[in-house]
Amino acid sequence: MLVVEDSPLYSARFFAEDDPYAYLADLRENAPVSLHRRSDGYAFYALTRYADVYTAYVDHVRLSSAYGTMVDGSYRPEKDSASGRMLIVADEPAHGIIKKPIKTSGFSRAMLARIGETVRRNIRDALGQLSVGDRLDFSTVVAPALPKGVLEVLFGIGPDDATTLLDHTRVMIGYRDQAYVGDSPLDSLVDAQLDVLDFIDDLIGQRLRTGDDQDMIGFLAQCVASGQLTRDVALLNGLNVAVGGNETTPHTASLCVSTIHDEPAQWRKLVDGNVSSDVATNEFLRWTSTNSYVQRLTVSDVEIGGYTIPADSFVTLWNMSANRDSTVFDNPDSFIIDRPDNKQIAFGAGVHRCIGAPAATLEIQMFLEELAAWDKAFTVVGTPQRLHSNFMLGLTELPVEVVKARDLGA
Ligand code: HEM
Repeated sequence: MLVVEDSPLYSARFFAEDDPYAYLADLRENAPVSLHRRSDGYAFYALTRYADVYTAYVDHVRLSSAYGTMVDGSYRPEKDSASGRMLIVADEPAHGIIKKPIKTSGFSRAMLARIGETVRRNIRDALGQLSVGDRLDFSTVVAPALPKGVLEVLFGIGPDDATTLLDHTRVMIGYRDQAYVGDSPLDSLVDAQLDVLDFIDDLIGQRLRTGDDQDMIGFLAQCVASGQLTRDVALLNGLNVAVGGNETTPHTASLCVSTIHDEPAQWRKLVDGNVSSDVATNEFLRWTSTNSYVQRLTVSDVEIGGYTIPADSFVTLWNMSANRDSTVFDNPDSFIIDRPDNKQIAFGAGVHRCIGAPAATLEIQMFLEELAAWDKAFTVVGTPQRLHSNFMLGLTELPVEVVKARDLGA
């Protein structure tokens, strides 16, 4: 098996400034299961083929989430109080018990309809404020409009509070990027985490006093009141949904805009109605693969891709690589907006598959629909700055100019 010392897969800079797709393509071709070591002793196995990534996702018994799903992000359960109590770092049966009230209260059909309405309104407002000739940073001015509507509905808060919550979670996930935090990333991470927790705890307190259960936080608060959940569990999972919701779709939206700029002929097909927005959304999700990998820990020996990975090993499942696997996708390195039978795995698979996937899909689909119907368009006028993170693929800056739609050949 290939062993890589001081692997670039640890490096946030490599993901921002180099070509991680090319590196992963090489692994996929020549060393689909490989071991990546770092000088401080941390080591993980990397799965890069679609079939192996999928196998690992659905084997949630032998591949545990309880030890942290992000390299360096979370550690052993004995050190991390969220383990076993927060959706993303809980194994069965605790995971299933926590998931049920969140799914029923946050992601029911009725909630998704409310989310859809609010998200579309916010996107229209954000685009409606722009005039031809405006120059702006899309990633900070327009992209946050996507998750804002989700937060407003799930947390039962107004647009200003949603913006505050967005600012804090941004620092939590992008804490290794100077664009968000300056020179002391760990202090910023801890401060941001405390701010978000205080904010959500206040909301739970309010809902406990009023008995309101009309939003997800209210529902979780009433579960606390009835003894079904502890207040800590409600709080930690409010945090999980806020972070999961905020730090993904704005990056996806920015990458969509830069992709549209690079692929005008493909985009034209959506504008002209030659591809449906749901098919296009799926390809944008594959192409952008915002959550690049997730991590697991083996609790027993596991055979994957012809290798035995020993018990007590970290394993990383590379979504961004699986989504470019030529055994599953024809011409995987081409953006094909009407790609048929698209089995993109951007939301993962198995019991931990993104609970917010329906909301995220709605956000991106509505964004694309509004953009295609807009009488204006964005043209990229400066170099997009990629996020310094190996975990989230996104842009911290996307300089654009607003032009008339026909100036792009419409
Ligand atoms: C394009 C946008 C998104 C992408 C690419 C994405 C990706 C993912 C992936 C790959 C996982 C699986 C993690 C694992 O298996 O360890 C996940 C889980 C999760 N996501 Fe998302 N996500 C997105 C949007 C959202 C949104 C909008 C929300 C909330 C509103 C959200 C909330 C969550 C939560 C709470 C989990 C944990 C689920 C569990 O462990 O059962 N995500 N997401």
